[in-house]
Amino acid sequence: MRTEQPQMIYLKDYQAPEYLIDETHLTFELFEDHTLVHAQLVMRRNPARGAGLPALELDGQQLELLSVKLDDADLVPGDYQLTDSHLVLQPTTAQFVVDTSVKIHPESNTALEGLYKSGGMFCTQCEAEGFRKITYYLDRPDVMSTFTTTVVAEQHRYPILLSNGNPIASGPDEDGRHWATWEDPFMKPAYLFALVAGDLWCVEDTFTTMTDRTVALRIYVEPENIDKCQHAMNSLKKSMRWDEEVYGREYDLDIFMIVAVNDFNMGAMENKGLNIFNSSCVLARAETATDAAHQRVEAVVAHEYFHNWSGNRVTCRDWFQLSLKEGFTVFRDSEFSADMNSRTVKRIEDVAFLRTHQFAEDAGPMAHAVRPDSFIEISNFYTLTVYEKGSEVVRMIHTLLGAEGFRKGSDLYFERHDGQAVTCDDFIKAMEDANGVDLTQFKRWYSQAGTPRLAVSEQYDAVLKTYSLTFAQSCPATPDKVEKLPFVIPVELGLLNAQGAEIPLQLADEAAASGTTRVLSVTESEQTFTFVGVAEKPLPSLLRGFSAPVKLSFAYSRDQLMFLMQHDTDGFNRWEAGQQLSVQVLQELIGQHQRGEPLVMDQRLVEALRSVLGNQQLDQAMVAEMLSLPGEAYLTEISEVADVEAIHAAREFTRKQLADSLFDGLWTRYQANREISRVTPYVAAAEHFARRSLQNIALSYLMLSGQPQVLAATLEQFEHSDNMTERLTALAVLVNSPFAEDKAKALASFAEHFKDNPLVMDQWFSVQAASGLPGGLQRVRELMQHPAFNIKNPNKVRALVGAFAGQNLINFHAADGSGYRFLADLVIELNGFNPQIASRQLAPLTRWRKYDSARQALMKAELERIRNSGELSSDVFEVVSKSLA
Ligand code: TRP
Ligand code: ZN
Repeated sequence: MRTEQPQMIYLKDYQAPEYLIDETHLTFELFEDHTLVHAQLVMRRNPARGAGLPALELDGQQLELLSVKLDDADLVPGDYQLTDSHLVLQPTTAQFVVDTSVKIHPESNTALEGLYKSGGMFCTQCEAEGFRKITYYLDRPDVMSTFTTTVVAEQHRYPILLSNGNPIASGPDEDGRHWATWEDPFMKPAYLFALVAGDLWCVEDTFTTMTDRTVALRIYVEPENIDKCQHAMNSLKKSMRWDEEVYGREYDLDIFMIVAVNDFNMGAMENKGLNIFNSSCVLARAETATDAAHQRVEAVVAHEYFHNWSGNRVTCRDWFQLSLKEGFTVFRDSEFSADMNSRTVKRIEDVAFLRTHQFAEDAGPMAHAVRPDSFIEISNFYTLTVYEKGSEVVRMIHTLLGAEGFRKGSDLYFERHDGQAVTCDDFIKAMEDANGVDLTQFKRWYSQAGTPRLAVSEQYDAVLKTYSLTFAQSCPATPDKVEKLPFVIPVELGLLNAQGAEIPLQLADEAAASGTTRVLSVTESEQTFTFVGVAEKPLPSLLRGFSAPVKLSFAYSRDQLMFLMQHDTDGFNRWEAGQQLSVQVLQELIGQHQRGEPLVMDQRLVEALRSVLGNQQLDQAMVAEMLSLPGEAYLTEISEVADVEAIHAAREFTRKQLADSLFDGLWTRYQANREISRVTPYVAAAEHFARRSLQNIALSYLMLSGQPQVLAATLEQFEHSDNMTERLTALAVLVNSPFAEDKAKALASFAEHFKDNPLVMDQWFSVQAASGLPGGLQRVRELMQHPAFNIKNPNKVRALVGAFAGQNLINFHAADGSGYRFLADLVIELNGFNPQIASRQLAPLTRWRKYDSARQALMKAELERIRNSGELSSDVFEVVSKSLA
């Protein structure tokens, strides 16, 4: 907890460190009621900062200092200054050794930052600034050191002792204790430090690198989870191969370890050679994890593995550069997932997520640039903007330079900066130098917040046979800046003729046509491109593959959108045309609802989806994606003022209409797919994901019909599935159905069966918390009393509270403000023991500007109540104060 008002930190104030740490030698003595940390830091004056010897300010929080030595002299109080955030010493020589001993309390660390206990095991989370809660240090990413770590603990309780790098020695100690020493030869910042001690089992494998070195691979878990590691291990080996093939990056240590822990603030952490994962991102097997969970494990294992180069070998100079490693690594993992599964489906999922959640963040009070220029609490900047928009920015560079040019740039980046802590500018410079291009204007994507709008208009000249597209870009004001300069917006496009065939593209200044899809760079506020030799007025397919993270508008008619749904060669844009058609239809219904008129739906949507459903050639996952209506959160994001009830009513009405009109087609496809599922053992691979996704969305529509044969089918699927994907969908369908008795029975039997599996119980909580049926808040309150719920466990909070506030919009935004009050109470409670989770759960309340004035007042009142609730963590303070500013 803070003692003074938290301070804003600015990128423009960056200064290189006064001192450097060449070697770090740590000894941890782990006990049940405290831990002793001895640190020996081999240090020197940073030559880049000149000759003088200023005071050495070591970061340290919540540490009990037991002793401190400078070279061999014991220091006494008076030789140093101690505050609640620093230990200040005065060096007298340019090279020196600092020795400290501190006492800390991992056993009562509920913030899950620094060294803490998860269940019976010790583990660490040091990014971004957690290492200062372990020992006094220069806790900043541009201070890089080698680490030698000795862990001493009771043999019986903690047979496994792990840290970064390679194991070099181990042995017994007195009193039933033992020790192990690990050495990490690669220079790294302290945020990549890790330690694990526990009673763990491991699954082992090996990987042979491209230069024929053998790497030992180990995934450590609690014994009961040893049967849930194979998918993560397969994913790891695929990631290692992919990074060699696509980026030429080889693994560097002799051993790579993953440890699964149940209590973790985020998804996973890329600590050098010793990744620590939320168990939800490691454990997966058919019976207990859904297809989505399998894909998330594959993606997160890849993400953390890829950080070994994009993050660890080349790291960030300061935390403003976070997207340097995160944006790039998300881009890398999304390309990996696209290569392992269906590229188009992966792109659809990523774009739907970005547009729903990152666009909302970029339009709210916490909006910030991909490279922010100030922050109060860095933990608040592990955002969708830094990760997801950051990845889109890297993707645009890839689109502009092409795969080969991008690879040349990444090779130069890794070669030039291996072992360094660098900036986003250094990344861009490598891309520029390797390709001989100038990305000066492009870099505005790093410095300007807000989602650009791109309005497109067309002009066809039937005499001259020319077709012009005019692009007008603008970017809304964000809290940091009102006036924005034009971005470089790569627009990939094609032109379709009346038969749906693509037209060869020739711009006015070109000698001949070449290709049918290409990337135009829009660089000015308004810019026109003219195509020549266009025999008839074409239909443009714009922003193919979502080539830039912008809000594009073009006045398509509904018939044109239906045409694109059928004929566009770009799979992403076929889906996008369907989404735009749905949005138009839904917005019309929202208007009818608001005017109190009876809802009348445009039947063209039914016909468009009927033909999708009947298309046996189309990838089944694409059919499923096209059948999925835009979510309530997305409809909220694109509204000027979101009408919670109208959005819900319009969307539910549309779902019911589709279910009734398409019943036969849905039923046929459901039955065909369920039959295959019944006779096929579970496989975690794209075509099987596709079959189950269509089967499952079909079932959720079918249940809206209320037909008895659908209830019977749902119960059959619930009871007889061999996998969690089908079982959980059946449960969710029952939970959202009117069949109260079957619902209660299914929930009870599911909980009884899976009560000892916390990750499955998370799903059980989520399905209920997300149900839009009336009485949502009451259900959530009751579930918080369930024995499997534990407010100290972030996964449980996310499963119940996160799902309620983030996915159950009709209940959370109840007009009486009860949802807001509930969330504020929870945030106040969480603030007391886990500030990072408190601050993240707060996000839905920061979106108040989107709602009507009554809801705005209620939401702001809750934010104010949080602000006045007492000692706020810097995490919650920053979000609340910016939201109310
Ligand atoms: N670097 C991690 C990742 O993206 C993110 C992370 C894990 C994190 N744990 C954290 C960030 C705790 C802040 C706090 O892979
Ligand atoms: Zn990451």
